[in-house]
Amino acid sequence: MNEKLAVMVNNLHVKYNDYLALENVSFSVPHPSITVIMGPNGAGKTTLVKSILHLVDFYKGDIFVFGLNVREHEKKIRNLIGYVPQREKVTEHIPLRARDVVLLAKMVKTGPLSIPTKRDMLEVKDALEKVLLPKSAWNKRFNELSGGQKQKVLIARAIVLKPKLLILDEPFSGVDTVSQREIMSFLSSLKKKGISIIIVAHDINPIVEHVDYVLLLNKKMIAFGKPRSVLTEENLSRAYGIKVHVIVRGEACYAIIGDRHA
Ligand SMILES: Nc1ncnc2c1ncn2[C@@H]1O[C@H](COP(=O)(O)OP(=O)(O)OP(=O)(O)O)[C@@H](O)[C@H]1O
Ligand SMILES: [Mg+2]
Repeated sequence: MNEKLAVMVNNLHVKYNDYLALENVSFSVPHPSITVIMGPNGAGKTTLVKSILHLVDFYKGDIFVFGLNVREHEKKIRNLIGYVPQREKVTEHIPLRARDVVLLAKMVKTGPLSIPTKRDMLEVKDALEKVLLPKSAWNKRFNELSGGQKQKVLIARAIVLKPKLLILDEPFSGVDTVSQREIMSFLSSLKKKGISIIIVAHDINPIVEHVDYVLLLNKKMIAFGKPRSVLTEENLSRAYGIKVHVIVRGEACYAIIGDRHA
């Protein structure tokens, strides 16, 4: 299997009991690269990233992470992947200070009885600075932070472990546009250091200039490829079931997706 590919998904099918959540999804992304997964609510975006982590059991198809079959190398691939789950689905009653949430991720790796070193503390500081969490929030309890600040802490917790692949499920929900742009340029700098990134996002516009590939999903794969070829009015309208406008500006393109009213 090709280790130059961060992720390779072949003919993926996922069922929850009798409900077919993903059908015949196939794509691969080279390493290092930045990929965005887009699609309406219930499209199967979270199901797809959970499949890559082998957190859901898919009944048909194969997934390889850096050439490793996720079914056979679950532990190995989870050590290579930093994962920021979708926040609404994460318990938020964490009775820890923001900086300790990040530190704890490191300590879990080094062992339960280990004492944090100066280097650990520096890495935690570095991660919190990179995600632009204001210093005044570092010592606040996690559940007392704003939504966007919580999101930043969860991103810091994933990057502090220095993964080879970072998967972020809607990392920017509640994060203001300026912070989104700055965090995204930081993620771009991670790519330059050899880290691949997969982001589930509803709004690609603030980050599109950093994106190498887009996967447009609605249970089936609507399109996959470079942003300019995927983000067309036809593809987006098929995915979202409504009329979508696309504005092309130089190399970048911007999608104006209205709210969907059933
Ligand atoms: N554990 C589960 N058991 C049963 N059905 C599930 C489960 N998880 C997800 N589903 C269903 O699978 C479909 C896809 O869900 P998923 O969470 O992957 O969508 P999504 O694209 O991430 O949506 P959102 O944008 O709302 O986060 C939905 O119809 C959902 O109800
Ligand atoms: Mg989701």
